[in-house]
Parts: sequence; structure tokens; C-alpha cells
Amino acid sequence: MMSGTVLINCSPKRRLSASGFLARCAAGLIRGEKRVLQLRTPADHPAILEAIRTAEKVVFVTPLYVDSLPSHVLPFMQKMEACCRENRLRLKVYAIANNGFIEGRQNEPLMRVMENFCARSGLTWCGGLGIGGGVMLNVERIMLTVLLGLTALNVVLRAAQGESPWEPLRSFAVSAGELLLLACGIIALMLRLAYHVNRGTDAGKRYTRIMVPSFLFILFADIFFTVVSVLQGGIFRGWLSRLKPTGGCEPAVSGKQ
Ligand SMILES: Cc1cc2nc3c(=O)[nH]c(=O)nc-3n(C[C@H](O)[C@H](O)[C@H](O)COP(=O)(O)O)c2cc1C
Repeated sequence: MMSGTVLINCSPKRRLSASGFLARCAAGLIRGEKRVLQLRTPADHPAILEAIRTAEKVVFVTPLYVDSLPSHVLPFMQKMEACCRENRLRLKVYAIANNGFIEGRQNEPLMRVMENFCARSGLTWCGGLGIGGGVMLNVERIMLTVLLGLTALNVVLRAAQGESPWEPLRSFAVSAGELLLLACGIIALMLRLAYHVNRGTDAGKRYTRIMVPSFLFILFADIFFTVVSVLQGGIFRGWLSRLKPTGGCEPAVSGKQ
């Protein structure tokens, strides 16, 4: 008897991935038996294939890489196709994709890849959700966690001094409300997708984004990537690095004669 949902977190990141967060949120909204499994290396394939053999639904939760699925997911999909054909599996497949740029619609080619994969593997494509501004979503949820921690500390310190805890709690509620407002499209469409997964019905394709005006998003993104670039080795590291590309990119003939 096939039952339950397997959520496959396809991010190659070990920790703090937007896909991992979205997979856990979706699992929280999906009823019945469910498992969240991570797909990072070929060593993860057997456990995931084993899990989907007895599942009824599969949700791929993935980042968008170069307008498609990350390359490490493709060998798994080939194995999954063979496994589904051999065992005549009739899974219902959904996808939740997030991307770095602001427009969630950038995930459309990925959704088509998933649809073709399902057609080829004899599976039922049930649609998905594409989320723009995935990095910002990740930053948001980390901020929310940090704020929660600071608020708890503030409340404890105030209580020790005999002061009322309401001011830090009020301030936290306002900040949390603002952060949730930025993610309102994602929350609404995640609830909608979970509703369809629970019923096993076609969710169609939907796209949303972090609700930040594009010009502000670009400004934040530029600052974020400049800081990350500086922290990880210098803003001009690509131009000034002494290291030269190796392997297939080496010029066939050295410049030195
Ligand atoms: C190799 C690579 C390729 C990417 N290609 C795209 C892309 O084509 N379009 C886009 O909007 N974001 C792209 N991104 C950004 C990721 O989709 C984005 O950072 C996402 O939030 C990562 O999700 P994760 O935390 O679940 O891994 C790319 C990131 C990497 C590392």
C-alpha cells in the first residue's frame, strides 16, 4: 500500500539552505506520514529511492541553478526514472523551487523540466511553486530567529530587574509582523500547495516572491554580495588572484615562447 509524502531537499548546502527551510515548512503543513530527505551526493540516492518506493507523493524542494535544477540532482533523476519504470510506481510529483533573483517566474524552465521528467517516468506531474528572492527569505528567517533570541534575553533581564516584559515583546511582534508581511505571498501559496498535496490534486504552477520593490531588492543584493565577497577573500579576488584556472580551461599553448 503506497502512502505518505517524501520531501527531497535538493540544495547542496549542508546547513542554512532556503530549500531545507521550505522543505521543513511544507512538511509541517502536510498531513500524514512524511519524510524530509536531503539529496547532496550519490551516497544519498539509495535512501531516497527506498523511501519513494512506498510513497504516494514526492515534493522536490530545490534551488534554481542556471535556470534549471542543480547538476547533482540530474543523476538522481535518471536513477529515479529507472526505479519508477521498473517498479511501475505511480507517484504524484510536486516541486517547490527558490531562486536568487527577485522574480519567482524565473523558475518556469525548471517546472517544465520536472513536467517532462514526470511524463518520461510515468509519474503524475501535479505542479509547483516558484519563489523569487530565496536568499532574502533565508536572511529573513535567520533575522527572525536572532530577534527571538534577543527578545527572550531582554525579557529575562527585565524580569530580573523587576521591569515589565511588554516593551521587548511589542517590539518583537512589530518586527516579526513586518518580516511575515514581506513573505505573505510565499506563506499563502505554500498553504495552497500543501492543501493540494494533502488532497493529492493538481496544484498548477504558481509564482511568487519576497514582497520587496525590485529597486530596493537590487540595492540590498548589491550590498549583501559586496560584504560576502569582501569577507570571503576580497572584492577583486577574481581579477587579482594569482591562482590560474586549471584543467580543461588551460590554454593549449603557453604564452611563454
Ligand atoms: C551555481 C549557482 C547557479 C545559480 N543560478 C541561478 C539562476 O539561474 N537564477 C537565479 O535566480 N538564481 C540562481 N542562483 C541563486 C540560487 O538559486 C539561490 O541562492 C537560492 O536561494 C539557493 O537556494 P538554497 O539555499 O536552497 O541552496 C544560483 C546559485 C548558484 C550557486
